Amino acid sequence: MPLPSQVKIVEVGPRDGLQNEQQVVATATKIELIERLADAGLRVIEATSFVSPKWVPQMGDNAAVMQGITRHPAAVYPVLTPNLQGFDAALQAGATEVAIFGAASETFSKKNINCSIAESLKRFEPIVSAASALEIKVRGYVSCVVGCPYEGAIDPRQAAAVARTLFDMGCYEVSLGDTIGVGTPASIARMIEACAASVPIAKLAGHYHDTYGMAIANIYASLQLGMATFDSSIAGLGGCPYARGASGNVATEDVVYLMHGLGIETGIDLATLATIGNWISSAINRPNGAKAGRAICAGTAQ
Ligand code: HMG
Ligand code: MG
Repeated sequence: MPLPSQVKIVEVGPRDGLQNEQQVVATATKIELIERLADAGLRVIEATSFVSPKWVPQMGDNAAVMQGITRHPAAVYPVLTPNLQGFDAALQAGATEVAIFGAASETFSKKNINCSIAESLKRFEPIVSAASALEIKVRGYVSCVVGCPYEGAIDPRQAAAVARTLFDMGCYEVSLGDTIGVGTPASIARMIEACAASVPIAKLAGHYHDTYGMAIANIYASLQLGMATFDSSIAGLGGCPYARGASGNVATEDVVYLMHGLGIETGIDLATLATIGNWISSAINRPNGAKAGRAICAGTAQ
């Protein structure tokens, strides 16, 4: 199959990246990050999550972030909503797109959102109905699509079943999360093939954490299967608070470098992106996890 000529990159750094930071990140820094990412050409920027601040304190300023950003007219700013309470709060704060998040692993589901997979899917139904009545788009996530920090390897059929349920429920896109970054091109390909048997590949996205350094290889394998939407995090920020030891998403800079090298359009200015990655890393006092970003800023790659 020929590689796609363009891809959509969903920037998840302000949410997936920052949710795991122990130190308080100033709301103003989050707002500046989101605005600068839109200026660099990102058109989907997951801004925050409307989850319980007891579970994820770093996202406790969700409403202030949503109300503080100056929105780029061409960009959308989805937010995570685990239940109707989160959905209502997101709406009040001005969200126009939301994401629901389930898992392919029972234990992870319990640890992350305090309910079973079946209960979570039931809980998502009223969110999707309420959103559809208001013409708000809903994205779906499936976590632990190849491996779980508690249960080990996950059967691709489990990932596919949850992906299909979310798609049938009305999610316009389902993002497949390798939450702990254990996938390799072989296991990722098996998982995508299982999911694409019931959800069109054009409606699937890859969300790969880079714990084992496999994310770029996994994206390349996914491109070869026709996938054209990928989630990534500026400077490789992040991890999941309920997946100990997992590192951040693949760095947006590295994904954009890969795509441009393959002649695939992203609409993103890589030099500007690299500067943003350096800036946010020093703003939160963390090493820059983007290899391409570091190389560009050091002047070793043009
Ligand atoms: P729970 O404790 O079972 O909720 O948590 P509850 O309904 O029993 O309510 C208990 C308390 O929480 C109540 O407050 C509620 O008001 C409050 P109290 O009366 O005790 O003061 N509450 C809320 N507050 C604010 N916003 C809400 C909300 N809901 C209830 N929406 C819950 C269940 C889902 C809320 C909790 O488990 C939670 O917030 N979990 C979120 C965990 C999370 O954010 N994880 C990271 C994101 S997922 C991820 O990173 C994976 C992903 O990147 C893909 C991948 O990599 O695989 C997407
Ligand atoms: Mg994630």
